[in-house]
Amino acid sequence: MRRGAWSTRYAFYLATVGSAFSLGNLWRFPYVVNSNGGGAFVLLYILCALALGLPIVVAELMLGKAYKQSVIVATEQLSDTSTQSWIRRTRIWSFVGTLANFSSVVLLSFYSVICGWVLFFLMKYVAKISSKAEISNTLFTTLMDNGWLQVALMSVHLLITTLVVSKGLKEGVEKLTAWIMPLFVVLMIYLVFKSISLPGATEAMRFLFYPDFSSFSKDTLLKVLGHVFFTLSVGMGAMVVFGSYLKEDSYVPRSGFRVAILDIIVCLFAGFLIFPIIFTLSSIEDVGPALLFNSLPVLFEKIGLGRLFGLFFFLCLYLAVLGASIMLLETSVANLIDKRKFNRQKASWIMIGIAFVLGLPAALSSTVLVGVKVFNKDILRFYDSLLIDTMLPLVVLGMALVVGFGMPRKVKEEHFISENEMDSEKFFRNWHFLIRWIVPGVIVIAIALSLWPK
Ligand code: TRP
Repeated sequence: MRRGAWSTRYAFYLATVGSAFSLGNLWRFPYVVNSNGGGAFVLLYILCALALGLPIVVAELMLGKAYKQSVIVATEQLSDTSTQSWIRRTRIWSFVGTLANFSSVVLLSFYSVICGWVLFFLMKYVAKISSKAEISNTLFTTLMDNGWLQVALMSVHLLITTLVVSKGLKEGVEKLTAWIMPLFVVLMIYLVFKSISLPGATEAMRFLFYPDFSSFSKDTLLKVLGHVFFTLSVGMGAMVVFGSYLKEDSYVPRSGFRVAILDIIVCLFAGFLIFPIIFTLSSIEDVGPALLFNSLPVLFEKIGLGRLFGLFFFLCLYLAVLGASIMLLETSVANLIDKRKFNRQKASWIMIGIAFVLGLPAALSSTVLVGVKVFNKDILRFYDSLLIDTMLPLVVLGMALVVGFGMPRKVKEEHFISENEMDSEKFFRNWHFLIRWIVPGVIVIAIALSLWPK
């Protein structure tokens, strides 16, 4: 089967960075930093993103580019029964592919609930743009008190996503995003400037950058890793799909490097944006997933033309999360098409159906199911930690072993070592060592630490 390729380099970056730059940066990063004590978490995040996240981005892109398939089929092709070496013969690699695909569907369910929240804020800003009444931070409470509204919003979001994917409207959305994203970046820069001129900014910077290691617990490393993998969109086969559309002449390590660095910068930006507001309000507490939604409207009320900025911000954010949801759905749909030869429409509806059913309990977790606690967490937080702090590190562990040991060295060298790139041989050796030993090693340590009895 002939496979399409990205029309331009810009299209590739738009899709990869677009999928990476989303809720993970703007919504989740500030709240996990807040819940885990600030500076020390941020420092560890930057280190892990560079040393472990970046090599995995490169590994997944390379797997896709080398085999021109989505993750399940690509990992199946690694099991080569004609060789003697057991590590190349074993069929276990395809299990990793299946698990990665499974994670993308589960993520889509929980992700859609949060996308529904963004949609709600966008609608409120559209409605309130000409009214005098303050947009207060009770907005989020209204949402939390109304579970069926959350179900409705999630359904609308899933429906939009499916229509785009199944009807092939992606190009239109991509064009729109291509316009909006640069504007979003400019808007973010402007808002960060506004935010760091608030009185709480100095204290916020101290919180973000002064590492206080006493805030660490035995789960912290795993939480850092989970977030790194989540925000870089690895561990779900998404980067494998992106890589499979890369043109022959693109140099994977460079593409991976750019995507990872940009994503880290956006996370830090989100920190600069949110924390000065919180410290100015002087109510720093662990509000969890509500953080972004409770703090930003305060800034919008304080600055001139704030509501217009608010409207534009939530519009951009919605497009970003729509882009990410499209890619998430696309990842699992691509797998169904490649593996089971389903047609696109059917595959999209099946996946969205599963995501809807799985998403229901999360959407109802603050109302109908408020009493239900799993491991001491409400259902939404349980999904978050099951998926991001547990499943993602496990899949990435598998993915590192797949590329580190399952993929023939020759193939990796072909994609990594190039005469035109300075020191590519040395970089290859370092990257290979990281993928084979350091990434799996750190993940195993993080899991062991978190399971360690108190
Ligand atoms: N990185 C995305 C974010 O920051 C979430 C995400 C994880 C994702 N894996 C993905 C998006 C795969 C698209 C495809 O919000």
